[in-house]
Amino acid sequence: MKVKVFAPVNLAFIKYWGKKDTKLRIPANSNLSVCLDKLGTITEVEFDKEFNEDSVEIDGKISKKRERDRVVKHLDRIRNLAKVKLKAKVVSNNNFPKSVGLSSSASGFAALSLAGSKAIGLNLSEKDLSRLARMGSGSACRSIPSGWVEWVKGDDDKTSYSKQIFDKNYWDLKILVVILSQKKKRVVTTDGHLAAKGSLFYKTRMKFIDKDLLEVKKFIEKKDFRGLGETMERECLNMHAIMLTGKPNLIYWLPETVRVMQAIQDWRKEGLKSYFSINTGQNVFVICKPEDEDKLVNRLEKVEGVIEVRKDRIGKGARII
Ligand code: DP6
Repeated sequence: MKVKVFAPVNLAFIKYWGKKDTKLRIPANSNLSVCLDKLGTITEVEFDKEFNEDSVEIDGKISKKRERDRVVKHLDRIRNLAKVKLKAKVVSNNNFPKSVGLSSSASGFAALSLAGSKAIGLNLSEKDLSRLARMGSGSACRSIPSGWVEWVKGDDDKTSYSKQIFDKNYWDLKILVVILSQKKKRVVTTDGHLAAKGSLFYKTRMKFIDKDLLEVKKFIEKKDFRGLGETMERECLNMHAIMLTGKPNLIYWLPETVRVMQAIQDWRKEGLKSYFSINTGQNVFVICKPEDEDKLVNRLEKVEGVIEVRKDRIGKGARII
């Protein structure tokens, strides 16, 4: 059977940076995100006895070894679960530039997990699907449920999974995706996680992160935009402080990244309320209220180095299309 799936990118308010178990991808801390509505990956998977080997095509290109190995390893997990030996054909397309900090591994492995498990005849629960996606790329487990999602860190494979905490329609916030450059990041995220523990500040971050998570949940409950935005921005900068001081240290920002961050803060002083977040790359996510969306897009498009601004909002998790 051939199955086609769309899985969204997700944006974390409390980040996943550092692992308790590298192999099982158990995060050092519980974390929280929203699924985007439009930005994501479409993946088609087919298992067939006619195939002699797994083939993997991403964004129109046959995958190189490291990328292919990671996908084949995930197909092996799916085959093991189903106790089936068939080889697969995987065709995957991102509707955004890959490997520039827009979380293509999250949407990619979420889509692969749903498409692959269905194509092989499995019918996994949302929880088990998120556990499977987690094994491919940690943050991918948050792209399985819809809306506002918490990844409960757990202690082992069974207890580390994602669940919805609020529906996608709970709060109408807008998410702007500010695309700055197509230059690929220099250190892949999986290697970046390993560098985190080398930072002098890592232990301190871990001491306060559960409190921040609780606070973020309270702000969401109260629909306190300022509280949520301020905590999200501070949390993003906390994570980047770990990246900047890890072993090796990682600088994911470009000059234009900093330009956008400062513009957002300057506009805030003028009363235009929005907050930024950045993952492992140069591009910037901005959250705002619906009434400020167009004004912000207009302004962001004029910032030097901005290539494109995409309008998005909170959406559903991975689904068959
Ligand atoms: C900075 O999920 O890409 O985007 O599990 O090694 O594949 P692996 O890492 P990944 O890490 C995402 C890190 C982040 C923060 C976040 O989205 O929480």
